[in-house]
Amino acid sequence: MSTTLLTDTHTETDTDTATEAEATAAFADRLTHATLGWFDLMAVHLGSQLGWYAELAKAEGLTADQLAHRTDSDARYAREWLEQQAASGILDVDDAEAAAAERRFRLAPGVAEVLLDRGSLSYLEPLARMAAAASGQLDALLDAYRSGGGVSWEQLGVHAREAQADMNRPWLEQLPAVFAGIDRLDGILCRPGARIADLGAGGGWSSIALARAHPQLTVVGFDVDEASVEMARRNALEAGVADRVEFLLCDAALVAEHGRFDAVFAFECLHDMPHPVDVLSAARAAVAEDGMVVIMDEATEERFAANASELERLLYGFSLFVCLPDGRSHRPSAGTGTVMRPSTLRGYAREAGWSDIRVLVPEFGLWRFYEIL
Ligand SMILES: C[S@@+](CC[C@H](N)C(=O)[O-])C[C@H]1O[C@@H](n2cnc3c(N)ncnc32)[C@H](O)[C@@H]1O
Repeated sequence: MSTTLLTDTHTETDTDTATEAEATAAFADRLTHATLGWFDLMAVHLGSQLGWYAELAKAEGLTADQLAHRTDSDARYAREWLEQQAASGILDVDDAEAAAAERRFRLAPGVAEVLLDRGSLSYLEPLARMAAAASGQLDALLDAYRSGGGVSWEQLGVHAREAQADMNRPWLEQLPAVFAGIDRLDGILCRPGARIADLGAGGGWSSIALARAHPQLTVVGFDVDEASVEMARRNALEAGVADRVEFLLCDAALVAEHGRFDAVFAFECLHDMPHPVDVLSAARAAVAEDGMVVIMDEATEERFAANASELERLLYGFSLFVCLPDGRSHRPSAGTGTVMRPSTLRGYAREAGWSDIRVLVPEFGLWRFYEIL
């Protein structure tokens, strides 16, 4: 709209004003779209937690009353939500002209996989859960930003913990296939009696996937968050691998106190840890001479740049609301944040007595794999 401010006879000052007006309009537009995005995320969280998407997926179109009845929720709110979702294109409506009570809604194509299919690599409902969890901690985040303190994983709560585990699960289930393509690592995992450590194991899906793929493997998972350890133990039990996969409530920096490991892994967690150098140093002491230490962490650019890619923006977003405050909830803390660049990891590795790092797999979802050398 600001292009209408330009005229054929503009002076230099006019041009400056027009450019400024265009920039203002563009940024106002951006903020409006961001608000729509926030509404989408929060409405997805509501619909997901209330079981509304799951119910809609089962039916051939539902009215607000039917949805509310089947999910033991309130019909007036259900109607508003259904209409908002249809207005936003997340739901289709059979007859928009019908009386409000008669309108039947169903999931738009593609929505079921993204919001309900927990095994799909496109499963992104956890993003909404994570955003909702962080939104619930904004006052604590403000305090932390003023004082230099933190907001712990425990404080971020059950939605953040479970969303993180659910978000990574489909990717972690691909680990055996990815590692099968790395000869030396595959050889280690296939060794008779092999034993591996999974540092910062969270919901335990990495340990479980590797144990399932390698029936002779034993896995010890480490995590400092008690609720995560309990979740991982439950998941291992349900997956039928609890006899070979144990989860310890234990700092990753103490891994060397738990014996020798043929491989030590840290999947998307080193940047959360307050003392990454101690952890890499402990991994060095714990790994067998012919073993490997493998870190999966965010596929950041080599260096900071303004107007960066969407991936970098996503990583900075996680860093602001989750990873940096979590890391800084411990004292002292390296305060790494989500955007752990290769140079930062190399620096940590060298400080821990290693000589270098090597990229094993440059891109795997949001991540990459490094070997510590
Ligand atoms: C982003 S989650 C990743 C979990 C899991 N590896 C995954 O990919 O789903 C980071 C995990 O690291 C754990 N963590 C943070 N500091 C730790 C430490 N010093 N020792 C062990 N675990 C730690 C957190 O409790 C959390 O479960």
